[in-house]
Amino acid sequence: MPRFPDIPMFQGIHAPSRIEIDLHDLEVDGEIPRDLDGAFYRVAPDHQYPPRFLDDVPFNADGTVSRFLFREGRVHLRHRYVRTERFRLERAAGRALYGKYRNPFTDDPSVQGRSRNLANTTPLVWDGKLLALREDSPPVAMDPITLETEGDWSFHGTLGGPTFTAHPKIDPRTGEMIAFGFAAKGLYSRDVVYYEVDPSGRITHEVWFEIPYYCMLHDFGVTQDYAAFPIIPVCGAGVEALKAGKPHYAWDPTKEIYLGVLPRGGAARDLRWFRAPNQFCSHVMNAFNDRTRLHIDVPVAPGNMFPFFHEPGKPWDPAQAQSRMTRWTVDLASKHEGFESAERLSEYVGEFPKIDHRYQTQPYRHGWLLGFDPARSSIAHVDHQTGKTQTWSAGANTALQEPCFIPRSERAAEGDGYIITVATRIREMRTDVFLLDAQRLEEGPFATIHLPVRLRPGYHGNWASRARIAPSSREVGEHE
Ligand SMILES: [Fe+2]
Repeated sequence: MPRFPDIPMFQGIHAPSRIEIDLHDLEVDGEIPRDLDGAFYRVAPDHQYPPRFLDDVPFNADGTVSRFLFREGRVHLRHRYVRTERFRLERAAGRALYGKYRNPFTDDPSVQGRSRNLANTTPLVWDGKLLALREDSPPVAMDPITLETEGDWSFHGTLGGPTFTAHPKIDPRTGEMIAFGFAAKGLYSRDVVYYEVDPSGRITHEVWFEIPYYCMLHDFGVTQDYAAFPIIPVCGAGVEALKAGKPHYAWDPTKEIYLGVLPRGGAARDLRWFRAPNQFCSHVMNAFNDRTRLHIDVPVAPGNMFPFFHEPGKPWDPAQAQSRMTRWTVDLASKHEGFESAERLSEYVGEFPKIDHRYQTQPYRHGWLLGFDPARSSIAHVDHQTGKTQTWSAGANTALQEPCFIPRSERAAEGDGYIITVATRIREMRTDVFLLDAQRLEEGPFATIHLPVRLRPGYHGNWASRARIAPSSREVGEHE
């Protein structure tokens, strides 16, 4: 096969990795806590073949899953491509067949109408499966231990739409999964389908509704009583633009943003829209409600954060892309269409917000973020009770990824546990994994897991305890 093109998307730490490996008993500096019993999963995009178009966006790459299995103070790695239909078709052809990001008009005729799923955004253990998620497609189920791909996941035949968010929420009180799919009636459709999945893994409630304008509806907030959908004008460029090979989305600075609030268990007629001036957010840290007052915590930037989805005819402005944690509040009891308040929670510039998932949908105290300064990669802990932000930087030679929280034990207090973050050592072109005390980031890692190879930087990760990975008698360690 030909070499990958020498363009920024494949340069430096973003160079293709393309490896699939098993590494038993990784080298560790420091001590892995013996109470860490489970697996940390992360997903990274890594093109199997050089792309057919050079002017594409980085999200358009095959999903790979890393599984770091923690057991008895030792760590074992397995790293695999997700065997999507797309991956298998391209492997058989020996070249890329699919075209640009969310643009089927640029595909090779041989794959017209075939699944474009890349399964490259989030890994989540659910119902005994590892789901590899990507928002334009259904989940792909994998074996959480072997990482063998099993195929599209339909929630036991109950999935009613063609798409499924990469950011579903699990309500720790009820054990339900709350999720949605956008573009649910096809390319650029304004239709969204909302799902409630019961603890047995079946969708028991489905609500179809339209959003004010088509946009990248990447994440949402779920509280004990509501689901909240931020509508941000990363808008559809239009079918004619797609046919001309232009990007799927374009930022529109003229549009207002909306927050759609749907009662859990409710119907489309119960949906309420709130409005606010033009601004940007993508991920949600958490949301909760106090009776009718709903709070949703999001990193907010004055303008567009995606350089490749800029406003047509205007260059992207990095100064407008600085996001800071903000709490939006709306009151369902008020007739007012606007947000009640927007409160700055931290001055730290960052994104990829994470929490202690045992507090998802509820009032909470602790959050973590990945910093944006590429010259000095950092992570932060935001304490919503004290208002203090604590940070740690690994220095100029290290590019950190999303900080994920692992509770010290299931009974530990909120935020009592570890932060795990995968990092690329830039000079050595090698990957390390850091473990830090979640509330004492400033002390730096207490354990560093060394990989002798480089894994391509990833998007999202999640921890799963051994009980969730192997709910039956199946032994987690049997494949090691
Ligand atoms: Fe995301």
